[in-house]
Amino acid sequence: MKLRMEIETDFNLVGNIHELAFNGPGEAKLVDELRNSASPIISMVAENEKGEVVGHIMFSPVTIPSQQGAMLMGLAPVAITPNEQDKGYGSALIRRGLEECGKQGISAVVVLGHAGYYPRFGFSKSTDFNITCEYDAPAENFMVLELKENALRGITGQVKYHSAFGEL
Ligand SMILES: CC(C)(COP(=O)(O)OP(=O)(O)OC[C@H]1O[C@@H](n2cnc3c(N)ncnc32)[C@H](O)[C@@H]1OP(=O)(O)O)[C@@H](O)C(=O)NCCC(=O)NCCS
Repeated sequence: MKLRMEIETDFNLVGNIHELAFNGPGEAKLVDELRNSASPIISMVAENEKGEVVGHIMFSPVTIPSQQGAMLMGLAPVAITPNEQDKGYGSALIRRGLEECGKQGISAVVVLGHAGYYPRFGFSKSTDFNITCEYDAPAENFMVLELKENALRGITGQVKYHSAFGEL
């Protein structure tokens, strides 16, 4: 397995992976939109042993309107092509992506996803903090990982994603 930053020649392959993994075009469009209008983004791919791109992860900035200056990212979307799922690519991309966020000085990462999957990477329930999600999702699915100790201490409010997420 090889993990690396996404480059332009990956864009179509990455779109196909999201369409297949999510059974529709929504996440592929979201990725295109974030590439065009969110900054900074962290966008990485995983290659299998044959050098084929089989997975993709993206992080983009999120904000808590009352808190200027907190450097927060949202992990979304992440997808592995269906016939390569459950082989460790997703976990590897998430771990490597979080490392990259740390290197870029991000203080915390949020994710809206499967409550049984993300805790293994260190994410905890957002209800342990004083932050909420702008989307109507069960609280247990909105999770947080502090990359800097106590990064979210004293921070309260609703996390806003890039407007492109509103179209999902
Ligand atoms: C979710 C996803 C990114 C995980 O990547 P992966 O390479 O298949 O997963 P890994 O091999 O790293 O990890 C396997 C573990 O993930 C779990 N897992 C896989 N898909 C899951 C899902 N949809 N919900 C919960 N857990 C899931 C497996 O049960 C397995 O758990 P175990 O280690 O306890 O046995 C990938 O399966 C995928 O693209 N799914 C479709 C799109 C999607 O749901 N994206 C995430 C949105 S939050």
